[in-house]
Amino acid sequence: MHLLEIKNVSRYFGGLKAIDNLDLVVDKGEIKGLIGPNGAGKSTLYNVISGVHRPTSGRVIFNGKDVTGHKPHKMTEMGLVRTFQATTLFKNFSVLKNVLAGCHLYSKANFWGALFNTPGTAKRQRGSEEKALEILEFMGLLEYKDELALNLPHGHQRALGVSIALAANPILLMLDEPVTGMNDEETGEMMEIINKIHDRGMTILLIEHDMKMVMGLCEKITVINFGKKIAEGSPDEIKENPDVHEAYLGGEYYVAGS
Ligand SMILES: Nc1ncnc2c1ncn2[C@@H]1O[C@H](COP(=O)(O)OP(=O)(O)OP(=O)(O)O)[C@@H](O)[C@H]1O
Ligand SMILES: [Mg+2]
Repeated sequence: MHLLEIKNVSRYFGGLKAIDNLDLVVDKGEIKGLIGPNGAGKSTLYNVISGVHRPTSGRVIFNGKDVTGHKPHKMTEMGLVRTFQATTLFKNFSVLKNVLAGCHLYSKANFWGALFNTPGTAKRQRGSEEKALEILEFMGLLEYKDELALNLPHGHQRALGVSIALAANPILLMLDEPVTGMNDEETGEMMEIINKIHDRGMTILLIEHDMKMVMGLCEKITVINFGKKIAEGSPDEIKENPDVHEAYLGGEYYVAGS
């Protein structure tokens, strides 16, 4: 059984076919790359998988269940957690409070408990705090736990975004361009972090324009263009695929990043 299976999915915006009859699978334990030129439909596919947009047609199967059209919070509860292309943080919260929000956000029981201070809330909150601190340590952010999120450098803000996602207990972690806007050092650190998360057994789907990173991290890569799958295979197979070179404007951009 595949952990995630996208079957024949299309998503139109008016006359625009952002996703066009796409099939994609992600297997438990793998780290899979999803690449394609700007506007290829990568983020739209994440939106369809995570329930932000309903597919125009086709099915999404996650962990053996048909989840087509499920709402985002429901998908998160089921263990499908994604980050966004833009950094989405509570900028005026401390780093720790951001991760705590990730712990609570998707669990209704905890959420209401926190609001009404029911018995057991204090205990749960202590548990969440321990978990949040563990995540921050794992992510190398522990020393910044009391800083406001807005005061962190860009690379650390992106790492905090991943920390919040981890706090929501993913089975499948879907990252959308985690190193956008990062310098080489920050990119290297994020690569190490993703490797570490994967080593712990996490299944990861990764959208990324940085080819060095995609080729370095992913066992298998799917390439889409104009909403259609144009290639799939190992990094070496993708590097040599002429359709992929053509999609990336004669390979210039592609070679530059590889
Ligand atoms: N909500 C929307 N309404 C209308 N059109 C949309 C919407 N979301 C995406 N699109 C269009 O769908 C196409 C695919 O966009 P998408 O953001 O999925 O591309 P992408 O592969 O993530 O690109 P990038 O690498 O630049 O992030 C684009 O033409 C985009 O303009
Ligand atoms: Mg995108």
